[in-house]
Amino acid sequence: MSDPIGIQIRNLYKIFGPRGGEFVSAVQGGMSKQELNDKHRHVLGLRDINLDIPAGRIQVIMGLSGSGKSTLIRHINRLIDPTAGEIMIEGQDVVRMPPAALRSFRRHKTAMVFQKFGLLPHRTVLNNVGYGLEVQGMDAAARNEIAMRWIERVGLRGFETKYPSQLSGGMQQRVGLARALTNDAPILLMDEAYSALDPLIRYDMQTVLLDLQSEVRKTIVFITHDLDEALRIGDRIALLRDGSIIQQGTGQDIVLRPADDYVSNFVQHVDRGKVVQVGSIMEPMSASNTNGHAIPEHTTLSEALRQMLSSRLQVIDVNDMANRPVGQLSLERAIAVSAGAA
Ligand SMILES: Nc1ncnc2c1ncn2[C@@H]1O[C@H](COP(=O)(O)OP(=O)(O)OP(=O)(O)O)[C@@H](O)[C@H]1O
Ligand SMILES: [Mg+2]
Repeated sequence: MSDPIGIQIRNLYKIFGPRGGEFVSAVQGGMSKQELNDKHRHVLGLRDINLDIPAGRIQVIMGLSGSGKSTLIRHINRLIDPTAGEIMIEGQDVVRMPPAALRSFRRHKTAMVFQKFGLLPHRTVLNNVGYGLEVQGMDAAARNEIAMRWIERVGLRGFETKYPSQLSGGMQQRVGLARALTNDAPILLMDEAYSALDPLIRYDMQTVLLDLQSEVRKTIVFITHDLDEALRIGDRIALLRDGSIIQQGTGQDIVLRPADDYVSNFVQHVDRGKVVQVGSIMEPMSASNTNGHAIPEHTTLSEALRQMLSSRLQVIDVNDMANRPVGQLSLERAIAVSAGAA
């Protein structure tokens, strides 16, 4: 299995239109998307994106329709050429890769999963999953063995001779995922891959992805509109608005410390009790608390509240993974955070 690799995006701009390059300095000087469109009939896709996507982690990109999510993910395998900026992967700038190197990079380092599945209708599940390997010239026996491994891994054993039209949407997306995994690429790009699925199927597919990720440790860029999905699977989340990153951080950062009203609007309906972990809201240890009750730092706020209320505690200790005390949480603070007042 290949080692996970990180992605560093630096000062990335995309201005759609025949003379995009001429307007970079105006945009750098503060010209808005609206003004660029009104005055020059060019569309601001991305403005000064700086993002470090950690190796082997899931980076979620969120934002309203038209905020630039697809534009950003398509830069990573250069389906779109930037107007300015760098995308560094293993010390190489994808933006400056010559055609042959770019082809090899796309084929060996990246894989994509699409919202509409992108399956070939006249090929069986097995031949869809093995398609990329076939294109690379691998013989049938070898590619079928690899394809079968991933078909089993995504829970589709027994369906390998079916055609896409014989499968439900969730199963088709499993095929899409298996196909993306066969080439062993360290970077997986998923643009609204689950958005067309029903909520329960979608939840199942998130579980499949998280299980796989704990095994294969890919660098995954995952676009979604759905905050619950983002919070469940994202190690890091970046929020885009009008082509700019408004906030980036962990789910905890975004829920507890939204950078502005746009982000607040995204997170206002979140069930804080289920999402917030006590480690994110604990206070420094005070020597006076010796009631002997402690909870791990990953405990959810609602579970902490339940324990404090049932044991009639005003304060509870918080322990780290090694069971060492690292802070404490008062009942007052727990209630304030869950009510959205802190
Ligand atoms: N080829 C193009 N030519 C001109 N403008 C474009 C092009 N592609 C995207 N845009 C514009 O760039 C902006 C960002 O679009 P993008 O498709 O990246 O948004 P998105 O966040 O993926 O939206 P959605 O959630 O609807 O998929 C939009 O204003 C869009 O109209
Ligand atoms: Mg999009």
